[in-house]
Amino acid sequence: MAINSTGLHPDQGADEENNSPPLSISSDVTAALSAVALRCVECATLYPALEAGQPSPAPRYRCDCGGVLDVEMPFTLPGARSSATHEAGAWDILPPGAEWRQLFDDRATTPPIWSISTDRELLNTSGVWRYRELILPAPESYVVSRPEGNTGLYPVGRENCGPGRIGHRQIGLYAGLERFFLKHEGENPTGSFKDRGMTVGVTMARMMGSKAVACASTGNTSASLASYAAQAGMRGIVFLPAGHVSGGKLAQSLAYGAQTIQIEGDFDDAMRLVEQVCNELGIYLLNSLNPFRVEGQKAIGFEILQQLDWQAPDWLVLPAGNLGNTSAIGKALRQAYELGLISHMPRIASIQAAGANPFYRSFKQGFATRESVHADTVATAIKIGNPVSFTRARRVIEESNGIVEQVSDDEILAAKAIIDRTGIGCEPASAATLAGIRKLVANGVIKHDDFVVGVLTGNLLKDSKTGIPQETSGVVIQPTIEAVRNVLA
Ligand code: F0G
Repeated sequence: MAINSTGLHPDQGADEENNSPPLSISSDVTAALSAVALRCVECATLYPALEAGQPSPAPRYRCDCGGVLDVEMPFTLPGARSSATHEAGAWDILPPGAEWRQLFDDRATTPPIWSISTDRELLNTSGVWRYRELILPAPESYVVSRPEGNTGLYPVGRENCGPGRIGHRQIGLYAGLERFFLKHEGENPTGSFKDRGMTVGVTMARMMGSKAVACASTGNTSASLASYAAQAGMRGIVFLPAGHVSGGKLAQSLAYGAQTIQIEGDFDDAMRLVEQVCNELGIYLLNSLNPFRVEGQKAIGFEILQQLDWQAPDWLVLPAGNLGNTSAIGKALRQAYELGLISHMPRIASIQAAGANPFYRSFKQGFATRESVHADTVATAIKIGNPVSFTRARRVIEESNGIVEQVSDDEILAAKAIIDRTGIGCEPASAATLAGIRKLVANGVIKHDDFVVGVLTGNLLKDSKTGIPQETSGVVIQPTIEAVRNVLA
């Protein structure tokens, strides 16, 4: 268990023994977090978000039983809108969904471009903090935001793509779907969905008074951590599986100035190590083991629903590795349904690479056992054999009547080629979404006329090697019109 949340020197600033919050955490933070609790997903034990510790409140990432934790808090409509509150677990006094929808729609009309005059509106221009009542009650002065979110939702179905997107229709044809959207989270500031969790994680680190943050990563979490830590003036430390991270992602961590430690092992080894390091040295842990990061990633779900004018799709499909995103999006959709933001709960389909498929294997056995594998796939972002958020994600699949599917590396690369050639583009792990949808449509699990949203998690530029056709990069000609005529003939 961590003994200090303030940086690398656990014995600095030791306080006398008491249960009250130490001076390093200010009273506005203590007040803001007073109603936030952490519940164990295994044994349901409840902990306060700020737990008394020596010499300062220790961040808690796991229950004493070893289970991971889930944030619980009351949802309160701000100001004069309503006095109705949603106490955790007491869903009988629901605030009307219409008021929540109006609140978020009002905020979305703020121009999503930062300027000095809109600094005041920073929280509203972020596609995460726009939903702040459902994410984290952070005092505004602590928020570390680029801002993030506001990513594209592309209509790509055979029916809904529209005449100006005729190229995108190829994706609908490939999937076999009429009404189909792709949400491109690769359009976030560092090129992946991780920025949504990271803005909340680094904000939380500031609230805890931390000076250093760390994560293990297959590349995207580390790039995001490096960027947000740099913005916050914190020390960023990232642990990467040596030789298994794409060049673009590694370059980001280095360029943003994070201390980049490559380990001789895989992601699962790095994950085990970073948890131990953070607990021993009092560094704030920013993997999705940190429940506040999961809260930030919920905003993917809220933003999709808002872009769809609060119409819930039949299916929401996404790639799955460490299972933080399945947990986050599932939680968001459930909360949106319980708050009355949407009228029904979409079914969730998590797609794994066949070579990194522990969640799929467990699903196939009705989740009777928790599987782990030695992971191997071209989609390095999801090359994970022992996912941390297994239990949270299992609950999401069970509650949403969802499904877990696996796809081969060939299917991933074929789907990536389709997404790339339509001009949208994505990194290999993201293409598991389309590969999985195509398979589920072919199997009749998803119907041709179902309303489907798929999540693309990372930008094409993240991995400039895997699945990029090499023959098109090889043509070098003399600068003459004859040479061009020959090439184009
Ligand atoms: N897609 C991309 C592009 C990812 O980077 C990840 C995870 C996933 C999908 C899977 O999401 O882990 O929440 O199930 N990347 C992590 C990382 C592990 O370190 O960047 P998940």
